[in-house]
Amino acid sequence: MHGPVKRWTAVVAAAGVMLVGNTGNLSAQGDSNRQAADPPAVAYRKAMMRSNSAHVSSLRALLGGELNLPAHVLHHTAALEANGRISAHIFPEGSTHPNSRAMDEIWNKKDEFAAQVTVFADATRTLNAIAQRGFNDQTLAALTVVRQTCRACHTAFRKPAAQ
Ligand code: HEC
Repeated sequence: MHGPVKRWTAVVAAAGVMLVGNTGNLSAQGDSNRQAADPPAVAYRKAMMRSNSAHVSSLRALLGGELNLPAHVLHHTAALEANGRISAHIFPEGSTHPNSRAMDEIWNKKDEFAAQVTVFADATRTLNAIAQRGFNDQTLAALTVVRQTCRACHTAFRKPAAQ
């Protein structure tokens, strides 16, 4: 009875040591060229933007003709509409940082920026409304319009990637 229990305890203990050892190695590697952590406002904005990308990529795969998951299409169009609705609030005044590509013009040209947010919100709402009809070609066309609004805002208000 005691033998197996002891062996198991030993295995768990060894695994724990390996885990601690690996974590130590990973952080040692990461520290050599890691940038300072993003402040929460910047981290949140970037995560929201990556979620925009993930929903767009999901829709492109779903609408390509090979997959038949209509409820998933509606999930991603609804999520993009929701992202559009809250996007005005992911650019709080002064949320600049060396790690951020948000341009000062977001806060210097507030009306122009607000117009871009509105165009994006409108396009995502239209996308979700059209998706309810269930025709992939129409949804794809509406998605193309959404992607144009992503690009327009990036061109006007996102700094080029650091070299
Ligand atoms: C109203 C303006 C605006 C709209 C609309 C917009 N973006 Fe962005 N996006 C930005 C800005 C500004 C940044 C830079 C954010 C930062 O670095 O702080 C950014 C960054 C990103 C990033 C990089 C995130 C990271 O991890 O650094 C991705 C990916 C992205 N956007 C995708 C999209 C997609 C896809 C859409 C449309 C579905 C979209 N964006 C719509 C302004 C916008």
